[in-house]
Amino acid sequence: MAEALKISTEQVTLDLPITDGTIKATDLKAVPTSAGPLATYDPGLMNTASCRSAITYIDGDAGVLEYRGYPIEQLAGNASHLEVAYLLLYGELPTTEQLAAWEKEINTHRFVHENVRGIIQSFRYDAHPMGKLMSGVASMQTFYPSARRIDDPEARRMNIVRLIAKMPTIAAWSYRQSIGRHYVYPNDELGYVDNFLAMLFQSQQRVYRPDPRVSHAMEVLFVLHADHEQNCSTNAVRAVASAGNDVYTSAGAGVGALFGPAHGGANEAVLKMLREIGSADRVGEFIEGVKAGNARLMGFGHRVYKNYDPRAKIIKKACDEVFEVTGVNPLLQIAVELEKVALEDEYFATRRLYPNVDFYSGLIYEALRFPPEMFTVLFAVPRTAGWCAQWLEGVTDPEQKIMRPKQIYTGHRRRAFVPQDARA
Ligand code: CMC
Repeated sequence: MAEALKISTEQVTLDLPITDGTIKATDLKAVPTSAGPLATYDPGLMNTASCRSAITYIDGDAGVLEYRGYPIEQLAGNASHLEVAYLLLYGELPTTEQLAAWEKEINTHRFVHENVRGIIQSFRYDAHPMGKLMSGVASMQTFYPSARRIDDPEARRMNIVRLIAKMPTIAAWSYRQSIGRHYVYPNDELGYVDNFLAMLFQSQQRVYRPDPRVSHAMEVLFVLHADHEQNCSTNAVRAVASAGNDVYTSAGAGVGALFGPAHGGANEAVLKMLREIGSADRVGEFIEGVKAGNARLMGFGHRVYKNYDPRAKIIKKACDEVFEVTGVNPLLQIAVELEKVALEDEYFATRRLYPNVDFYSGLIYEALRFPPEMFTVLFAVPRTAGWCAQWLEGVTDPEQKIMRPKQIYTGHRRRAFVPQDARA
């Protein structure tokens, strides 16, 4: 029997069909109220599905994450980031031939227009790299006007390729500008992750070749960050896309959303927090401060996961791999103690707060000598694959409309205008 929700008010009785565990919010309009047709109030969109999607599945209670049905534990360490990007976009893992063609196409498009260099160069020396990244990504639309033809499948495909290919170049140059070093151009001989590392760390004197253990750990981190269904930045990408925008303009909005400390900026905030705590014996005092509401335990808690974030488990393992090369980050001891104390504490247990993806990733980035401001950039580069897949799904979904939520108006109504000289 089909599920339905019965709503009865003084005026009407309605049977609203339940499909996929949801009712259509617009069906509620048939219920009159004193304030107009019935609507839902959902700040933070905590219980509202805004789209149908076949890309990423999360079961937050069970700690499950799958891309196109493949569990994250099977993809991380076995598939490269570009393989996963292909999977997210096209729905299937590439064959050997498909992967070779995809890698070749991405490699060919890694160079950016020389004027992008000028855009990045024009920032102040202390500009945050996320600001530079956001501007660089948004500027791409001006170099590739074909991106505006979002109804043209080939234009859509080509500009997605360009964005995924050029993102590491813009990201690496944003960093090089901060440290006043020359820009390193993409190297055809290196894969996606190694080329990114080379553009970041290559010096004029020495050819940079990353330790294979570092490359492997970065590849794993990239796969873990590739997509995460309707999170804040993906929602921003889809909202901007819903107005008919190209992939660059939409991804620029995604970079902006990701910058926030409650979202991708949390990895940077975790490092700052660990430094402030300073030593493992001060963890208890810090936790008491969190419980008293003086601070948040950054890298803990998640809107969807009410269990250990499966990405955090994998990252913890990647930490060991990186620390073998770099030596143990002294902040690790504080992080481990923090996790232990928090997981045993009733405050965190009752609220179901567990470490999330950002809790340990910052430690790896720091061990690799990235400054904290670069951490969110390292999140944005792999997340571009997810943004592109979600953008594509959104702009080709016939059910999608321009995103335009309602509000509950709480301000004044119809006041008489007061001339300037009569105002108190
Ligand atoms: N430290 C202390 N208390 C917390 C924390 C935290 N990190 N996270 C949630 N709480 C408490 C919160 O105070 C509230 O308590 P009460 O019910 O007594 O008011 C309860 O837990 C529910 O929290 P909420 O803020 O209503 O939950 P939310 O779903 O709106 O927020 C979150 C999710 C991720 C923004 C939040 O957990 C948080 O701010 N965490 C720290 C920042 C962080 O690590 N963000 C990265 C998220 S994972 C990467 C990504 O995908 O972006």
